[in-house]
Amino acid sequence: MGKILGNRVTIRGSGFFVPARVVTNEELSRTLDTTDTWIQERTGIRERRVAAEDENTSDLAFRAAQAALENAGVAPCDVDMIIVATNSPDTLFPGVAPRVQDMLGATRAGACDVQSGCTGSVYALAMGIAGVSSGLWKNVVVIGAEIISRIVDWSDRKTSVLFGDGSGALVLGEGDEGQGRFVSVDLKSDGSKHDFIVLPAGMTAMPASEETVKKGLHCVFMKGNDVFRFANKVLPDFLRSFLAEADIGPKDIQWWLLHQANMRIIESILSKLDVSPDKAIVNLSRYGNTSAASIFIALAEFLRNQSFAQGDRIVLSAFGAGMTYGAILYEA
Ligand code: COA
Repeated sequence: MGKILGNRVTIRGSGFFVPARVVTNEELSRTLDTTDTWIQERTGIRERRVAAEDENTSDLAFRAAQAALENAGVAPCDVDMIIVATNSPDTLFPGVAPRVQDMLGATRAGACDVQSGCTGSVYALAMGIAGVSSGLWKNVVVIGAEIISRIVDWSDRKTSVLFGDGSGALVLGEGDEGQGRFVSVDLKSDGSKHDFIVLPAGMTAMPASEETVKKGLHCVFMKGNDVFRFANKVLPDFLRSFLAEADIGPKDIQWWLLHQANMRIIESILSKLDVSPDKAIVNLSRYGNTSAASIFIALAEFLRNQSFAQGDRIVLSAFGAGMTYGAILYEA
């Protein structure tokens, strides 16, 4: 995989939404055998957002999409495609995207979900880019939306402290000369490591039963140390060769937006690339790991507060269940 040929694809607008309820590490430590110090030192997370009982993933996705469309000045009736990256859909089917299409009143748009662990962000974005670049679609809304809090076991300190809820969205469209553009994409998968992050029960391999519920198999199971090692080992080499294919190196990148899973992973990847941590866009201390929404939220929040300089190069990269991983290069 490599260079994006065809039409110039630009980011026309961005938006994000996080639920109002803040759950701090201190609050978690009241019911869980954990401490604020442990969570901050091992992950960099201080607090996360948790959706209200009457909020669904589609509600979060809608709010982010609405904000992104307003930001882009694009009317819902001009949207051709809505893609939602999620691992915590309202229901397995129908997907979240058709709900959002209806809520937005995007009457002309197609809509589908993408599920690829936390890398769903990059996969969904790549599909949106390909659609605009090829001329198939003019305006695409790509959303990452999660309510992971509903699929974690809150008594498991190894997983529950890591995740948070939220959504972010980008509107992609054809760009003019002088506007930002997506340059290249690479998507990878190592399915031999499919047991690193799993939600075991509730589908065909293990249909839901009294037994699966009793054992909590409808919640996320994660081999945290294996995931940690995988990201630290695989991502630096992958990112170096990804950039080499575009004839550039880590030093040519002004901004790194890596999946917001763990501050130690972000720092370790950047250190192996000999890049200063100052170049990372980071918000995980406030939102935790929002899975397939993390890159979208971080990018939309960044763009709300500041902008890229013309010509800045930004790497978006994620890893997650599968194990899948990928990267996208954007030139502002
Ligand atoms: N609070 C306090 N202690 C905790 C804890 C918590 N929330 N979670 C685990 N511990 C304990 C462990 O039980 C272990 O105790 P022990 O030595 O008595 O057995 C000790 O802390 C060290 O555990 P370990 O798992 O080795 O810690 P770690 O430094 O590797 O951090 C993770 C654990 C999960 C934070 C880290 O491995 C990680 O971030 N992995 C990647 C996860 C990820 O990114 N997943 C999403 C991918 S999309």
